[in-house]
Amino acid sequence: EQAGKGEYDHFMLKEIYEQPTALAQALEGRIDPENGRIALENFEPGTFADISSVQFVACGTSYHAALYGSLALKQAGVQSTALLANEYSVSAPPIGDDTLVVAVTQSGETADTLNAMRHAKAEGASTVTVTNVVGSTAAREADEALFIRAGPEIGVAATKTFSSQAVMLTLLGQRIAADLQGEVPANLESLLPELEAMPDSLEALLEQSDAEAIAERYENSQSYFFIGRGLGFPVALEGALKFKEITYEHAEGFASGELKHGPLALVTPDTPVFAVFNGVEDEKTLKNAEEAQTRGAPVVAVCPDGHRAVDIADAHLAIPETEPDLAGLLANVQLQLVSYYAADLLDRPIDKPRNLAKSVTVE
Ligand code: AGP
Repeated sequence: EQAGKGEYDHFMLKEIYEQPTALAQALEGRIDPENGRIALENFEPGTFADISSVQFVACGTSYHAALYGSLALKQAGVQSTALLANEYSVSAPPIGDDTLVVAVTQSGETADTLNAMRHAKAEGASTVTVTNVVGSTAAREADEALFIRAGPEIGVAATKTFSSQAVMLTLLGQRIAADLQGEVPANLESLLPELEAMPDSLEALLEQSDAEAIAERYENSQSYFFIGRGLGFPVALEGALKFKEITYEHAEGFASGELKHGPLALVTPDTPVFAVFNGVEDEKTLKNAEEAQTRGAPVVAVCPDGHRAVDIADAHLAIPETEPDLAGLLANVQLQLVSYYAADLLDRPIDKPRNLAKSVTVE
C-alpha cells in the first residue's frame, strides 16, 4: 500500500496532486480542434435535440458535482435540476420520455444512485451515467456512459473524481445546450481556452498553496463554515463535506446569502468562514463574509490575487484567474488541501475515515 502512495503520506494527498493529469485525461479528444466544439464519443450532434428537461441524480460529493453541472446547464438556458438520489423515489419531478436523467457516480456502484437511475428508466427517461469505472453497474445499465478517466481513487474522500466529474458535466452541458438551441452556447468561446488551461492552472495552484499554514492557523476552532454563491455554492457544500469527513470536526456549507437567515447565530471568533469568490456577484458574497467578520469570525477569502476580498479578509487562499464557471473548481482544490492538512494535524486516518466506505452499496 505504501508503494502505491509514492512520495505522499496518504492516497488523498496523492490524488489531490493527480488532478492536473486527471483533468487533462477527462478533456482529451473531447474538444474538436477543427471547430472548437465539444465532441463526446457516444453522442452525435443532435442526440439531445428532443430533450425537454435534465435531471441529475447522485449522492455525497458526486451530488455536489451534479449540482455544479445542473447550475451550469441552467445558466446555458436548459431546464435542469440536481436531486439527491436517495430522495428521488419520494421527490422526483415528473419524468417522461423527453427527460434525460444523468446519474453521476464515481464508483458506478452506489445503490441509491443505481435505484434512482432504474426508477427513471422504468418511467421512460433516457439515462446517461458519468462515472469513473468502466464495467461498473451504472455503466452497464445506463443507456450511455461517459467516463471521467480520473484513474483509480483509493482515498475514501473523493477529490480528483469531483473535479473530473464537474469538468465532464461542463462538457456534457455544453453539448446538451448546443443540441437544444441549435447553436453553440454563447459562453463556449470564452470557456473553451480556460477549460483547456485547467490542468496548467491547477498545476500552478498546487505548486504554491498556503493551505497548510491556514489549516495550522485555524486549528482548534469550534466549527468551520464555507460559503459560496452560484457555482460557488456546491463548492462550499463540498468544502464542508470534505472537512467533516476527514477531520471529524463540525463544518457546514451555505449559500453566501443564507448566512444571515440563521447560521449567523453560530458565528463567533472560533468559527472561520471560508468564502469562495468566482466573479459572480462577488460584492454580495463579500458583504455576507463581512457580516460574519463583524461578529468576530475570521474570513478566509478563496479568490485570485488582487481581488478586493484579499484586502478585507483575514487570510487568503489564492487561485489562478479563470472564467467564473471554472473558478469554483480551482477554489475546491484549495479547500481539499485545507481539509487534508487539518486532518493531518489531528492525526486522523485520512484515507479511511471512521464509519465510511468508498462506495455505499446499500440503501
Ligand atoms: C465523499 O468524499 C464520499 N466519497 C461520498 O460522498 C461519495 O461521493 C458518495 O458516496 C457517492 O459515491 P459515488 O460517487 O461512488 O456514487
